[in-house]
Amino acid sequence: MEWWMIVYTDSLDGITPDKLTGFFVGWLNPPSAETHLRVLQGSYKFWLAVDDTTGKVIGYINAISDGVLAAFIPGLEVVPEYKGQGIGTELVKRILHSLSHLYSIDLMCDADVQPFYERVGMHRYTGMILRYYENQSGANP
Ligand SMILES: CC(C)(COP(=O)(O)OP(=O)(O)OC[C@H]1O[C@@H](n2cnc3c(N)ncnc32)[C@H](O)[C@@H]1OP(=O)(O)O)[C@@H](O)C(=O)NCCC(=O)NCCS
Repeated sequence: MEWWMIVYTDSLDGITPDKLTGFFVGWLNPPSAETHLRVLQGSYKFWLAVDDTTGKVIGYINAISDGVLAAFIPGLEVVPEYKGQGIGTELVKRILHSLSHLYSIDLMCDADVQPFYERVGMHRYTGMILRYYENQSGANP
C-alpha cells in the first residue's frame, strides 16, 4: 500500500521548478515549471498541496487581487494521480478563507465543474472572457 502525507502551505520556501511538474494537463501551449513559479510569485494569495514524501507540489490554487475589494482565482489544479481525494476542495476552502476580507471573489469554469464550486458555497453567474492563445505559455515578456 502506498502511503503519503499531504501538507498544505502558502509559502514558496523550498519550492523550485523541479517540484512543480505535471500541471497544465491538456493545455496546447502550457507554461513551463519556471513560469508556473513566476505565476505563484506574482499572485496575491496561493496555496499549495505538497506530497511530503517526495516534496513535489501536487496541487495549487492562486488568486490575483486589488487587495481592497476584489479577487479573481485564475488557477486550480490537482495532478491526475492525486485527484478525487479532497485535495482540490481543501485548496479552494483555504484560498476562500485567505480572501475572506474582500467583497468579491470570482472565477471562470466549465459547467461540469460548477457543482464542485457550489459545494464550497460559490454561486453560478455569467461572465465574459478574452483569450490570446499565443500568450498561453506565459513565455512572452
Ligand atoms: C477540479 C479539480 C481541481 C478537483 O480536484 P480534486 O482534488 O479531484 O477534487 P476533490 O477530490 O476535492 O473533489 C472531487 C469532487 O469534485 C468533482 N469534480 C472534480 N472535477 C470535476 C469535473 N471536471 N467535472 C465534474 N466534477 C468534478 C468530482 O466528481 C468529485 O466529486 P465526488 O466527491 O462527489 O466524487 C481537479 O479535478 C482538476 O485539477 N481538474 C483539472 C483542472 C481544472 O478543471 N481546474 C478547475 C479550473 S476552474
